[in-house]
Amino acid sequence: MSIPNGRFITFEGGEGSGKTTQVQRLADRLRLKGSEVVLTREPGGSPGAEAIRHLLLSGIVKPLGPEAEAMMFAAARDDHVTHVIRPALERGAWVICDRFIDSTRVYQGALGNVDQRLIRALERLVVGDTMPVLTIILDVPPEIGLARAYGRNAGADRFEAEHFEYHQLLRTAYRDLAVQEPERCVLVDASASADALAVRIWMMVSERLLRPRQPIPAPRARA
Ligand code: TYD
Repeated sequence: MSIPNGRFITFEGGEGSGKTTQVQRLADRLRLKGSEVVLTREPGGSPGAEAIRHLLLSGIVKPLGPEAEAMMFAAARDDHVTHVIRPALERGAWVICDRFIDSTRVYQGALGNVDQRLIRALERLVVGDTMPVLTIILDVPPEIGLARAYGRNAGADRFEAEHFEYHQLLRTAYRDLAVQEPERCVLVDASASADALAVRIWMMVSERLLRPRQPIPAPRARA
């Protein structure tokens, strides 16, 4: 089924990029405008997916290899899309999701070397045309992101505990993704303050999704 108005936004980024704060800030702004907003996250977001989240983040699945992890993330996503995301979009709500398919593409695909064909096949099966219209990638140097993440948590989860180069590769993979899909993905410098970032994101969302579509004027030549 097609999505009314296509109001599905996802946030992506490495550890400590500030997604949790920013998804909340965007949801608050939209709710102030009177919109229904479903704020959700992956892995998780529905009871079935939250149960799988526990398995994935505890590291129990890690010994099974990145393919098995990709399939478990997809199983969690299937439950989430079916029971939360699709019904919300079908009734016209905005859905803001903290991580979605691009996390699988980057963590399991680019970093875990899982074959792109498997990743795309899982996407087709699980997501179909329930694709985000806008994906905001929060870009932050890993030294800043990891310091934020460690300051917040008592212990690192299975992915935060990876070595420093892993997080550098993660950042590069997200940057590549933004280049590959410029229509959907926007890379945003997330080293700015949370307030400045929230303003930037709000402007982007209102420009792209709230204003009536009008032709984009050609850039003026510099004098
Ligand atoms: P979470 O505690 O939600 O952290 P964060 O604040 O970084 O979003 O942890 C989710 C972890 O799961 C994160 O390290 C990325 C990883 N992940 C994948 O590897 N593949 C996926 O498809 C998803 C959704 C998440």
